[in-house]
Amino acid sequence: MAGTVIKRVGILGSGIMGAGLAEVAAKAGCEVIVRSRQRATADALLAGLGRSLDRQVEKGKLDDRTRGEILGRVVATDHLRALVECDLVIESVVEDLPVKKALFAELEQVVQPDAIFATNTSTFPVVELAVQTERPDRVCGLHFFNPAPLMRLVEIVRPLTASDDTVDALRAFALSCDKEPVVVADRAGFVVNALLFPYLNNAVRMLENGTASMEDIDAAMRGGCNFPMGPFALLDLVGLDTSLSILDALYAEFRDPNYAAVPTLRRMVAAGHLGRKSGQGFYRYG
Ligand SMILES: NC(=O)c1ccc[n+]([C@@H]2O[C@H](COP(=O)([O-])OP(=O)(O)OC[C@H]3O[C@@H](n4cnc5c(N)ncnc54)[C@H](O)[C@@H]3O)[C@@H](O)[C@H]2O)c1
Repeated sequence: MAGTVIKRVGILGSGIMGAGLAEVAAKAGCEVIVRSRQRATADALLAGLGRSLDRQVEKGKLDDRTRGEILGRVVATDHLRALVECDLVIESVVEDLPVKKALFAELEQVVQPDAIFATNTSTFPVVELAVQTERPDRVCGLHFFNPAPLMRLVEIVRPLTASDDTVDALRAFALSCDKEPVVVADRAGFVVNALLFPYLNNAVRMLENGTASMEDIDAAMRGGCNFPMGPFALLDLVGLDTSLSILDALYAEFRDPNYAAVPTLRRMVAAGHLGRKSGQGFYRYG
């Protein structure tokens, strides 16, 4: 397979990331088919996309005609079979390895044999999904950041099994989406999370040690490193449960003490203090 060009994109999952990916791929001019398990959530995704594009028209970032063209390129379905002719399928369902493995095995039965399968997983070994298929050379990670329409980075995660053509096609696809791709080996955390989470974890350790208050640690990193937000504000934004599961995955892979989640983080998750989404994290919201 040389010189694969991606024109038709299937997306599995209609959560935060699935919705963002549909917008990104449709804006890049691809035909997009989003598959959700339920018709109602598939329809809700289309309605949400319409509202997101409306806001961009109101702000003058998009004209009405382009809005219509983008929406016209996206269809939603509850049938996996609708993805049969896709050139690329991006899996973005719940972060659960058995669920993702089963889905890759099912995709193999349904989607044309030349298609590339990508996963948006934040933590799992991509090779474990590749070997569920009969095309492990056509499987890669494609790790977008939240919110996908705004964040420019895409990590192309290359498992041992992937071919050069697959990586080249995904790089070209990411560039056509106006993203900045980087290619990274199939290791837990890839580049960004592997570097970011020890920092976040050590910020909580510093709070536990009484080095400074969380407000002062946040202020120090904003003012001293020019970061747009400090570590505690960022942990609350990402979600403390998500942060804990990323640290656990990193620790399981590398056994590096910097990845061992500090007790405060684990206790806060147990208490349901998950950050912005629960109204209470290191800070209180709402
Ligand atoms: N949220 C982020 O900041 C972020 C960033 C980068 C990557 N990711 C990754 O993207 C993926 C999706 O995350 P999200 O934040 O959109 O999650 P989400 O909870 O918003 O959406 C999850 C989707 O998975 C579907 N789903 C749940 N159980 C399923 C099952 N058994 N079979 C099929 N579908 C199922 C849900 O219906 C929903 O559409 C995950 O792998 C996550 O690690 C998330």
